[in-house]
Amino acid sequence: YAAAFVRPPVLTPQYVTTDPDGAKVNHYRITMRQASAQILPRKTTNILGFNGIFPGPTIELEQGTRSMVHMRNQLPKNHPTLGHLLATSTHLHGSASLPQYDGYASDVTLPGFYKDYFYPNFQPARTLWYHDHGVHFTAQNVYSGLAAMYIMHDKAERALLPQGAFDVPIVISDAMFAANGSLGYDDRNRSGLWGDVVLVNGRPWPLMKVQPRVYRFRVLNASVSRSYRPTLSTGDPVYVVATDGGLMPTTQAVKYWRHGSAERYEVLIDFSKYKPGQRIELRNLSNENNRDFDNTNKIMAFEVVAPPSEKEMKLDPKWNYIPTTLVDSHVMRLTKNDAVKKRQFRVQRGDEDGPWNISSMTWEDVIASNFKLAGADPKLGAVEIWELENKSGGWFHPIHIHLIDFQILSRNGKPPAAWERGPKDVMYVGENEKIQVIMQFGPHKGRYMVHCHNLVHEDHSMMFQFRVGLGVN
Ligand code: C2O
Ligand code: CU
Repeated sequence: YAAAFVRPPVLTPQYVTTDPDGAKVNHYRITMRQASAQILPRKTTNILGFNGIFPGPTIELEQGTRSMVHMRNQLPKNHPTLGHLLATSTHLHGSASLPQYDGYASDVTLPGFYKDYFYPNFQPARTLWYHDHGVHFTAQNVYSGLAAMYIMHDKAERALLPQGAFDVPIVISDAMFAANGSLGYDDRNRSGLWGDVVLVNGRPWPLMKVQPRVYRFRVLNASVSRSYRPTLSTGDPVYVVATDGGLMPTTQAVKYWRHGSAERYEVLIDFSKYKPGQRIELRNLSNENNRDFDNTNKIMAFEVVAPPSEKEMKLDPKWNYIPTTLVDSHVMRLTKNDAVKKRQFRVQRGDEDGPWNISSMTWEDVIASNFKLAGADPKLGAVEIWELENKSGGWFHPIHIHLIDFQILSRNGKPPAAWERGPKDVMYVGENEKIQVIMQFGPHKGRYMVHCHNLVHEDHSMMFQFRVGLGVN
């Protein structure tokens, strides 16, 4: 825990306009480019980053403020070490975006070109993130640095949970480095990439100084493949208050939580019970089906500083408690009786080294069908239950459905784990697990993706599309 903890910078809009209906629109400008980063001590690492940094700049705004992101691809034509064409597509993960702005894998922007993305930001407050989604090379591009946070606030969350200095983004990823500091890449028969170094906001195992009070951490797993089971070294609980889609109905105290790629969990940690100088580690208990290394059981550490001076105490004493009742969002009020349809899917692999697939569909099939093949055709506004079963043996798959938030109804016929009882957009389908989720399709019509967020699986080719309200089938 030698590196100092850092927060990614928050991006300032270039300018702000007002839409005819009175809504504000923040206009941002982001350039994807190659840059050299200071990740390991005394070494530089060549990365690809939004504005040349990893993680990229955080976009932070209020619900109801729309955003336009002018996204320029100024990357080299080909990846500097892996050689593929750097054709990118930016996805805002967690946003109900219109299909043309959703970062469709095949909707790529070539080096030297740009695309303007529009985001409506009408959903409940949540932790989102934006990352590359370019067809077949998402794993390499995200691993090289094209990932960043996007935070949307609303009144409910502002009133209930720590803000400002006590509201802390935590982007976890894993990587492997060559002796000269350059990033290694090894995706093991297209099964996954397992780094031996754990990075938090782009720094290895950092140490964060904290005051003896309640903090809120927005934890995002931006790893290509690795899942985590974070836990405190003291054995004390953390308090889960929000999941992918924002606040959960009630706070859940847990000793650990299971955290797959792309999932977001917001947790409160109460440091007031520790002494100044005390060090509390955030460790990683192993999950099955990952490759562990000597230090992948550690994530970061906190060190409690002396109680703040009188002056610092002016820092709002607000939010310095653990709320118990939070917010029942729309999706958490859906029940089985609301569903008009039930669909079943199997997540699996063709043969040992063959492409991954979902119910025998791959993205190759979608491309070959000229984007006609769809795994589901829900009506606009329809509530459906989807059941996903892991038929792939010793693997786990964090499956992401674009556009909507879902509620997990059951996991192997039992209630979902305590930490996942909130609105979600990624479900962890562990070894031999069968999971049921319920959701309502909307508010947009169009074609959206469903895929495994182990990005190596996604690229090869564990992804299909569904069509909302297009009246097919
Ligand atoms: Cu985080 Cu389809 O992506
Ligand atoms: Cu997978």
